[in-house]
Amino acid sequence: EPVPSFDYVIFGATGDLTMRKLLPALCRRFAEGQIPADAQIIGTARSPLDDAAYRERGLKALREYVREDEFVDATVERFLGLVHYVSLNGADAEGNWAGLSARLDAAGSERVRVFYLATAPDLYGAIAQNINEKGLRTEQSRIVLEKPIGTDLATARMVNEGVGRHFPENSIYRIDHYLGKEAVQNVIALRFANPMLERLWDRESIEYVQITAAETVGLEGRGGYYDGSGALRDMIQNHLLQVLTVVAMERPSSLDADALRDEKVRVLTSLKPLDRNNLAANVARGQYVRGTTRGQAVPAYREELPDEAPSNTETFVALKAEIDNPRWQGVPFYLRSGKRMPEKLTEIVIQFRAGEPGLFGAARPGSRLVIRVQPNESVILPLFVKQPGSTFGLDEVDALSKLGEPGRIRFRDSYEGLMLDAVKGSPALFVRKDETEAAWAWVTPILQGWSEAANGPDAYAAGTWGPDSARELLARAGHQWVEDA
Ligand code: BG6
Repeated sequence: EPVPSFDYVIFGATGDLTMRKLLPALCRRFAEGQIPADAQIIGTARSPLDDAAYRERGLKALREYVREDEFVDATVERFLGLVHYVSLNGADAEGNWAGLSARLDAAGSERVRVFYLATAPDLYGAIAQNINEKGLRTEQSRIVLEKPIGTDLATARMVNEGVGRHFPENSIYRIDHYLGKEAVQNVIALRFANPMLERLWDRESIEYVQITAAETVGLEGRGGYYDGSGALRDMIQNHLLQVLTVVAMERPSSLDADALRDEKVRVLTSLKPLDRNNLAANVARGQYVRGTTRGQAVPAYREELPDEAPSNTETFVALKAEIDNPRWQGVPFYLRSGKRMPEKLTEIVIQFRAGEPGLFGAARPGSRLVIRVQPNESVILPLFVKQPGSTFGLDEVDALSKLGEPGRIRFRDSYEGLMLDAVKGSPALFVRKDETEAAWAWVTPILQGWSEAANGPDAYAAGTWGPDSARELLARAGHQWVEDA
């Protein structure tokens, strides 16, 4: 159903994220009839463009990033009619705030205003300040902050404080697009709507958990950002820890935003610290060298960097996290993420404990419940059944549940739902300040440990599942990554 009319102001409107994700997401929501015809989408950036030139860029992006079968000329044209551009450096108090203000005032101050910050995060404080001091922040305003919120705990606090001086916390929406993924949200439904699973969800029944986010792409021309970041900051601090929190949290008292987020924070603050003293045993990092992905020879990470500079940035991380609470004591949560892996795959694997030797002979290996986040959102639960025709032979079958019928349900891109949640004022799937900071508090000592280490990342060939050290990490506990089992 349509949301009430709104003004959506995007800072960083000529950037990659806006073109690839934000405009396509809004366009699809418009096509689905959720965005009223008098809404305004106002891009701002430094480039001197007018509405027509910006729409031209928008159209090009939509052609590229909206699926062909969803791209309807007339609809896209109407959508672009809602799009405007104001040339403005958001961090500069002397910028063209009057231009932006005029656009917004024309629509009135009663409507919801969303300010979406997709610039470098060190500008967030200044942009928030300008929005506020130029009188653009209304009662019905919210500010959305893209990741990364800082590069370590200290800078994350600076960003949060900088924005927090000008917007109340309940109007600050920190986006993590993994929380917009259907299958991630589904973890909450699976766990708490199925008493059978809820009862099995603890150290008594679960031996370990694996959370993998593998990508086949390399740098994608983002070297400037990525080389200063690396996989730990780019994927683990936010996306994978967010997935971990929904897998591990206690049952929240309700599905309210704060009830949910309180439980998620408790998970993060219960993570056992990893630091220089135990890194070697618990964390593997890698950087890809030349190899082959999907039949294509690809260059090494260093060769993809603009100046082919030597770099110790990790393009792969695998680590063993442990949660120090009664439910999870002693259960490893293995997280890993990497570029140039053999496939694009995000999944959660819940490894149940093995049974005792019994009626059917040797002990049965424990089942693995797989929650596939992408591609092909699904839940897979293998079960042993009697082999047809035999007396008591066993077969393993997969009870498979697609989280929707292909062709019938279109999975929304993760940004679609979240961008409109910000309009509706529903923050449940956004990250609270204390959550971001708890995640950084856990990640920062790992970064520190690495910076003091004698060795850099281990090499792995592009197109493989990372360095040997990642396999050894599990082998030490007698465990295996899902693709090796
Ligand atoms: C982004 C990272 O947050 O997530 C990228 O900055 C990464 O490096 C991307 O490619 C992965 O998102 P998805 O939705 O494709 O899994």
